Amino acid sequence: MFSWLGCFPKKNVHVIMLGLDGAGKTTMLYKLKTGETVTTIPTIGFNVEEMVFGHLKMVIYDIGGSKLLWKHYYTFANALIFVVDVSSISRLKEARDALQEFLDQEDLKGVKLLFVANKRDVPGALTNEEFIDAFNLKMLTDREWYVQSTNARTGEGLQEGMKWLQTVI
Ligand code: GTP
Ligand code: MG
Repeated sequence: MFSWLGCFPKKNVHVIMLGLDGAGKTTMLYKLKTGETVTTIPTIGFNVEEMVFGHLKMVIYDIGGSKLLWKHYYTFANALIFVVDVSSISRLKEARDALQEFLDQEDLKGVKLLFVANKRDVPGALTNEEFIDAFNLKMLTDREWYVQSTNARTGEGLQEGMKWLQTVI
């Protein structure tokens, strides 16, 4: 159907997706891009895909879980997606430390932050309230954030999370 909205140029934004290895970033990227549930292998380096959400053309970078790489991508981020495997209770502290490391980055002050609480389908996974407590997010007042629980394999919750980003960017 013809839409006048299609006549306006899209705004280009760069979105960086970070999180520990195995959190589900690559699964999420390709579910969003193609609707397919891909079989992944650990990402060495990064994957990048461009997609349109409403008035935005988002270039989404999925950075492999090796934290050493992350800092190279910080400087051009308009928004961040921090993906956490909320079924992996034993790695929560590691995920929290990784989050803290990048909250401390000067380049990222004020950047919008979507938390993807992934693998909610796994029994025993954290609820959103437990997630907010575990990551002490009530103390995170210097930037806008939002928690979306997802199942990246089925795509549940992904569009809702992206919709939030779309409204705040
Ligand atoms: P790195 O590339 O190593 O940083 O990992 P990644 O964050 O890209 O994780 P990846 O997408 O490769 O997913 C790791 C594993 O988790 C895969 O076997 C996925 O199929 C699985 N997985 C991803 N999302 C979910 C989910 O929501 N639920 C369940 N049960 N499994 C998931
Ligand atoms: Mg990956």
